[in-house]
Amino acid sequence: MTTTVRPPEGGACASGHGAPLPFAGKKGLLGHAKELQQDTIGALHRLSETAENGVLGFRIGSSPAVVVSSAATAREVLIDRADDFGRGKRQTRALTPLMGRGLLTSEGELHSRQRRLVLPHFSPRRVPKHADAIVAVAEETVRRWSEGVDVDLVAEMNALTMDIVTKLLFSTSTRDNQTIASAITEAFEWEMHAITSVFALPMWAPTPRNRRARAAIETFRNWIAGFIRERRTADELPEDILSDLMGARYEDGGTMTEDLLLDEVLTAWGAAQETSADAQAWTLYLLARHPEAMARVHEEVDSVLGGRSVTFEDLARLPYCLQVFKEAMRLFPPAAVIPRQALKDTVIGGYTVPAGTMVFLNTFSLHRRPEVFPDPERFDPDRFTREREKAQPKGGYLPFGTGGNICPGSHLAMMEGHLLTALLNQRMRYELLPQGAEVRPELLVNLRPDPGVRAHVSPR
Ligand code: HEM
Repeated sequence: MTTTVRPPEGGACASGHGAPLPFAGKKGLLGHAKELQQDTIGALHRLSETAENGVLGFRIGSSPAVVVSSAATAREVLIDRADDFGRGKRQTRALTPLMGRGLLTSEGELHSRQRRLVLPHFSPRRVPKHADAIVAVAEETVRRWSEGVDVDLVAEMNALTMDIVTKLLFSTSTRDNQTIASAITEAFEWEMHAITSVFALPMWAPTPRNRRARAAIETFRNWIAGFIRERRTADELPEDILSDLMGARYEDGGTMTEDLLLDEVLTAWGAAQETSADAQAWTLYLLARHPEAMARVHEEVDSVLGGRSVTFEDLARLPYCLQVFKEAMRLFPPAAVIPRQALKDTVIGGYTVPAGTMVFLNTFSLHRRPEVFPDPERFDPDRFTREREKAQPKGGYLPFGTGGNICPGSHLAMMEGHLLTALLNQRMRYELLPQGAEVRPELLVNLRPDPGVRAHVSPR
C-alpha cells in the first residue's frame, strides 16, 4: 500500500520544496527492517516496483529512507543535486579502517584533488597496457581447469580477480603467500560485516573480530608499504598501477604522502576486486543458462581468434562478447545499490526528502524499467548493439554510477570484463550442476549469486 501525493508539475516548486514524500505502507515498529535483512535486493525491488515517479519512502526501524529507481531521479541524486548528498555515515565508518581517506571515503576538496590526480591513470588511453597481464593471469586459471573440474564459479572468479588485481597493482601474486591472502580475506570480511550487519561494533571496540581485523589490516598495509619502500630506492620501476600512483603529481608538482598512497591503493583494490568477480560470475552463469547466446560467443571468438590468445587489439572485433558482459551487468549490477544520505532538506522527483534520510539508488530496479528495457527479466545481449544502446535514455543504465563519483576504474573494468568473457569461453565450456542451476541475487557489499554457481568446467 502506498500513499501518494502528486508532486508539483515539473518537479520542485519555486520555493525549492516538493510535495510530501510518499511512504510505503506502515510495517509496525521495525518498518521494512526485517524484509531488508532477509532479502535486501528483493525488498528494495518490490518497493521500487510500487514507486511512482521512481521515488518511494520507507522506514528501517524508526529511520526514514528512500529508494530511487528511475533514470531521471538517479541523475537528480548523482548529478543535479549531488551537493545535497553525502555517502552515508554507515558506509564511511565501514570503509575507513581499511581504506583510510581514499576515493571511496573522502569528500569535498580532498576528494576532488585526489580524483584529478588518480583518474588520468585509468583513462581509456592508459588501460590497454594492462590487457596482456590480465590475459596471462586468466590463461593460468584456465590451465588449472584443463583436466575438467567441478567448481564454484563465484569462488573461482574471486580467486582470478584477486590474482589480476594483485598483478596490475603490484606486479606480484598472492597465490603462494598464505599470510597475505588470509589477511586480505579477513580485512574485507570485516568490512562486509560492518556494512551489512545491524550489530557491527566500531573498529575501536575490543572484540575478538575487531582485533583480528586490525591485525589483518596492519599486515596488508605493511605488505604494500614494503613495496613502496623498495621502489623508492630501485633503479627501475615495474610497469604497474603502484608505480603510476607513486609518480602521480598534483598541479603544484608534489606527490602523495605515503599514507594517502596506501589509502588509494587499498581503495582501488577493494573497489576493483569483488565487483569484477561478481560481474564475471554472473556472466558465466547467464551464458551457461542461455545456450543460444553461448553459441554466438563461441562463433565470434572462434572466427576472430581461432585458437590464439585474445589481445586488446582484438576487442573491437568481438562486439557480441561485450554486449553479453553489459547485459549481465544490467540484470545483475555488482553495485546494485549506491548509497547516499541527504545532508540537508532536498527534493527528488518533486518530493521533499528531509535532511538525514538514507537514499538507496537502486540500479537493480533501474535496469529493469520496462520503458527502457522491454521484457526486462529476459537475458538479451542484443539490447546493447551500438544502435540500441544509443537509444537508451541518459541515466537508464548505471553499472558504474554517474556524476562526481562515477567509477574511475570503469574503462579498466570494461576491458577486463570484455577480455575475460572472450577468453574464458574461447577455451572452456561450463555446465551448471544441479546445485548451481538456481541462484538468487544476494546483496552483501556487491550483488553476488547465492549460494554460489556450481558448474562442471571442461575444455572445449
Ligand atoms: C565491474 C567492475 C566495477 C563496478 C561494477 C564498479 C562500480 C562502481 C560504482 C557504481 C561506483 C560509484 C559509487 C558511488 O557513486 O558512490 C564506483 C566507484 C569507484 N570505483 Fe568502481 N567499479 C568496478 C571496478 C572498479 C575498478 C577496476 C576500479 C579501480 C581500479 C574501481 C575503482 C573505484 C573507485 C576508486 C571508486 C570511488 C570513486 C569516487 O567516489 O570518487 N572500480 N565503482
